[in-house]
Amino acid sequence: MIAITGANGNLGQATIQFLLQKVLPTEIIAIVRNPEKLTNSHIKNVKIRKADYNNQQELEEALKRVTTLLQISTTSTGETGKRQEKNVVLAAKAMGVKRIVYTSSLTPKSNAHFLATHQAMATEEEIRKSGLDYTFLRNSLYMEVIPALIGNAMETKEIRYPSGDGRVSFVSRLDIAEAIANILTGSEHDNQIYEITGDTAYSFTELAQLISIEKKCIKINHTDISEKVFREELISYQIPVDVADLLVSMANGIKSGEFSYVDRALEKLLDRKPLALAEYIKSL
Ligand SMILES: NC(=O)c1ccc[n+]([C@@H]2O[C@H](COP(=O)([O-])OP(=O)(O)OC[C@H]3O[C@@H](n4cnc5c(N)ncnc54)[C@H](OP(=O)(O)O)[C@@H]3O)[C@@H](O)[C@H]2O)c1
Repeated sequence: MIAITGANGNLGQATIQFLLQKVLPTEIIAIVRNPEKLTNSHIKNVKIRKADYNNQQELEEALKRVTTLLQISTTSTGETGKRQEKNVVLAAKAMGVKRIVYTSSLTPKSNAHFLATHQAMATEEEIRKSGLDYTFLRNSLYMEVIPALIGNAMETKEIRYPSGDGRVSFVSRLDIAEAIANILTGSEHDNQIYEITGDTAYSFTELAQLISIEKKCIKINHTDISEKVFREELISYQIPVDVADLLVSMANGIKSGEFSYVDRALEKLLDRKPLALAEYIKSL
């Protein structure tokens, strides 16, 4: 049996759709914290088990008879996020899960600016300590976050973002989901670490140029605002302080090159070229 945490999220839902092309719905367990909120019809076809990352007993119940677990990283941050992810690893170990496939952060290092990287490093360490087989997908930023990153730039013709000349190897979340389905059903991925990126890294100035080219009717520029102004703007949009902190840390991470690494692992996992950023932008 293959179980998936965060199954009702974007990556979880997409992975289940790819998995259903490879295994029977009865072999898939979608672990969600709010079964009553499920709307996706594909997920409704697979087995649903309820577990909140904060509830060890629910997690253990949900992992009964599971051999392979896709542990999708949590949306919580800081110590809460670390504890939630550790709960999942401990439950997997306790219930005899054989392999964990975990969605981690690109090229993690202990002095990373991006706060989520520290959580990912702690969870990788917990998984290693558990002695279970593992596969880590160290994901770069999703292309699908670009609309949120650029805000209303299509109207204002300006991307206001404090990333300096830092580049991002944006990657399609759908491509990641397809690669995960291949890993979950493949046999040669035990104890492997994959850096999951697009095929090119772009600075925000280059991103603005690409949007200008692909969306022929607009000319967009990048303005490298200060971290202070960025934070003030986030707070003015009623974004909670912990989320603002995470977003500021992400911008600082981009600025210092934490998302610029480019790797061919995704192309090999998909056995085709990953989606190019220009193609994604055309679809916006
Ligand atoms: N690489 C990137 O660019 C990027 C961008 C955003 C996020 N991420 C990370 O990648 C993960 C997957 O991305 P995504 O787009 O699928 O995110 P998403 O759509 O926000 O899905 C996250 C899932 O986590 C579940 N979840 C959160 N807290 C939980 C808890 N306490 N107990 C049980 N489930 C919980 C949510 O459940 P509900 O449906 O009940 O809310 C949701 O289904 C995210 O969780 C985040 O860690 C990466």
